[in-house]
Amino acid sequence: MVTRVQTVAFQGIEAVEVDVQVQVAPGMPHFNIVGLPDKAVAESRERVRAALLASGLSLPPKRITINLAPADLPKEGSHYDLPIALGLMGAIGAVPADSFSRYVVLGELALDGRIMPVSGTLPAAIAANARGFGMICPAACGPEAAWADPDLDIIAAQSLVMLNNHLVGHQLSARPVPARQGSNVALPDLADVRGQEAARRALEVAAAGGHNLLMVGPPGAGKSMLAQRLPSILPPLSPREMLDVSMIQSIAGELNGGRLSDRRPFRAPHHSASMAALVGGGLRVRPGEVSLAHNGVLFLDELPEFAPQVLDSLRQPLEAGETVIARANARVSYPARFQLIAAMNPCKCGMAGTPGHTCRRGDACAAEYQSRLSGPFLDRIDIRMDVPAVSARDMMGEQTAEPSSTVAARVAAAREVQIERYREMGANGIFTNAAAGARLIEEVAAPDSESRDLLVRASERFGLSARAYHRVLKVARTLADLAGSKKVGRPFFAEALSYRLSLANA
Ligand SMILES: Nc1ncnc2c1ncn2[C@@H]1O[C@H](COP(=O)(O)OP(=O)(O)O)[C@@H](O)[C@H]1O
Ligand SMILES: [Mg+2]
Repeated sequence: MVTRVQTVAFQGIEAVEVDVQVQVAPGMPHFNIVGLPDKAVAESRERVRAALLASGLSLPPKRITINLAPADLPKEGSHYDLPIALGLMGAIGAVPADSFSRYVVLGELALDGRIMPVSGTLPAAIAANARGFGMICPAACGPEAAWADPDLDIIAAQSLVMLNNHLVGHQLSARPVPARQGSNVALPDLADVRGQEAARRALEVAAAGGHNLLMVGPPGAGKSMLAQRLPSILPPLSPREMLDVSMIQSIAGELNGGRLSDRRPFRAPHHSASMAALVGGGLRVRPGEVSLAHNGVLFLDELPEFAPQVLDSLRQPLEAGETVIARANARVSYPARFQLIAAMNPCKCGMAGTPGHTCRRGDACAAEYQSRLSGPFLDRIDIRMDVPAVSARDMMGEQTAEPSSTVAARVAAAREVQIERYREMGANGIFTNAAAGARLIEEVAAPDSESRDLLVRASERFGLSARAYHRVLKVARTLADLAGSKKVGRPFFAEALSYRLSLANA
């Protein structure tokens, strides 16, 4: 007799069906797990045995074999504990096997029989719902599973004993309710920033079209300050985007208390971050910062201090909107469509280009520091903005800066125009100019003859790559959208070019 329990394995953010088959047969006492388990899964044996014992169920002295099918799919993580334990409870007759046959089960077990939270509950619940199954998961993950569908049957149990009581009908546990993270915590506001008109404009343009932005300026000019205020002018996530973002957070185990939030992600990894931390991977495949920044912002402060190979590993996700991690036995991809915001000093001492300052090491100081950024990397940055030091007069002057709410309203209007345009054109999944493909952007930002002259001359003078050309069109389109203009006229191309050309002499 074989008892079967449904669970999942994760490939990227996809939950793949896994069938846990439990056989208890006469023979020498023995407990074995087969089907490509990793170390955490193999250790499951000890946790399951102890948890069952603590819950008043001891395993019979028989030959126990657990098969995780399909056998060629690698199984990682600790969420197989609960399906294995439940299969055993069915096999020894503690609960009827048909009481859990229509559920997808996941959870980790503590030695005392408690069911511990696991990552990936949200994608698992969505997959279960698509198959018409219910969900058995840890109590702490219930609010997360509840997001999959209002009608999804969920049993979110604290412990094996409580799960047992629910399944045999002694004591039913209530269905969890979807929880939401309060968005009432105030974000830092643009009204705090004095002066820096040009940089504020660049930030607004970047927010409106989802463009990549690099701010260069001396220490204390307000670069980090400006970047931290970007979330306050970005529109909230749409329900669809929120689910995508939350799936990644769920897989990464970063969904606090199973509460979803419609705030755009803002990730600011330190410059000592490794390649695995940034793009994902490592011993256990896990989404990196670029994926956690999906549909939001990746902020890299002190850009040249990041290791060059780490920065170059960003090139692929910046272009493709996803990361691909190749492993010995699998290829995993995670979505990573993020907006890159970076800040840097112009040179090691930080003051190059400031009037009245000469670096001790002369021009080499700035050249050397900036050469840490490769050409192909810089080519992917749409807007480069100089952020000069604020003068004492600006600091002491009256505070009249626009608050974030005013800027956010303009950004939201421009985003609305983009969403509407790409929806009308049938461009599925494209919501910003930055995300539009080459052919699409050539169609919606076609330069007139006047603008064409300008672009040709700029390209001859400064050398624009094909990529750079398309990125100029995208920024120009955003400028027109912000201005409420249907056509992209010459002034918009000129402004877009000005943002890029300063990159050439970086
Ligand atoms: N434009 C500005 N308006 C108001 N305060 C500023 C401005 N620039 C800098 N500051 C002050 O200086 C501090 C440091 O700024 P920061 O953004 O960290 O500089 P940077 O990143 O350019 O080195 C800020 O926390 C703020 O108190
Ligand atoms: Mg800073």
